[in-house]
Amino acid sequence: MLVSPSIIAADFTSLKEEIKEVEDGGADRLHLDIMDGVFVPNITFGPMIVEAIDKMTDLHLEAHLMLIDPLKYIDAFADAGAETIIFHIESKSKPRLIMQKIRDRKLKIGVSLNPDTPIRTLFPYIEEIDLILVMSVNPGFYGQKFEPKILPKLKKLKEIKEKGNLNFEIEIDGGINKETAPIVAPYVDILVSGAYIFKSRDRKAIIKNLKNLC
Ligand code: DX5
Ligand code: ZN
Repeated sequence: MLVSPSIIAADFTSLKEEIKEVEDGGADRLHLDIMDGVFVPNITFGPMIVEAIDKMTDLHLEAHLMLIDPLKYIDAFADAGAETIIFHIESKSKPRLIMQKIRDRKLKIGVSLNPDTPIRTLFPYIEEIDLILVMSVNPGFYGQKFEPKILPKLKKLKEIKEKGNLNFEIEIDGGINKETAPIVAPYVDILVSGAYIFKSRDRKAIIKNLKNLC
């Protein structure tokens, strides 16, 4: 199991140390929640901060773009050092154009689904996707409660992947902690976790426990 701590829940007054702690603690990637205040009711940070983060760590950076028009910003996040770019299928940009742009930049293509969005919205693109990020909360804020209603979708996605011999990774995002991680573990490759990791004292122990799930 891979673990991608979401720095949205970190202490930004000491971001460098926070990142170092999860990197030393065994994190596999770093999850960067980018919110525009339009697609979601919250604003976080943009490419400038991603560029600074890229200088703080060797971890693979995944930019989770909760933006209404992600197409406009792919180059900016690519220039800033993002290695996987995840856009929402519910955004208003054309998926094919976004995917082409991400491919042109030689980065990994990630697509995210809100809790109420069905998998079939991805069918036209599924063979070209490197990573599918299933939201288990409505995006916008960290520390929300995991929504069990997404479980059938997660199971179905794993089935589609296996039956179709497809290569995309399955990642889950929202409300992952010691109770919910074991429930989703059989169906996912990567766990995103914000509050559970960053609001705890022993990040290393938490990351280790999450990684040991399978
Ligand atoms: C939600 C974000 C998530 C989330 C993770 O909009 O995409 O990455 O903040 O934080 P937790 O694990 O606290 O739900
Ligand atoms: Zn996220």
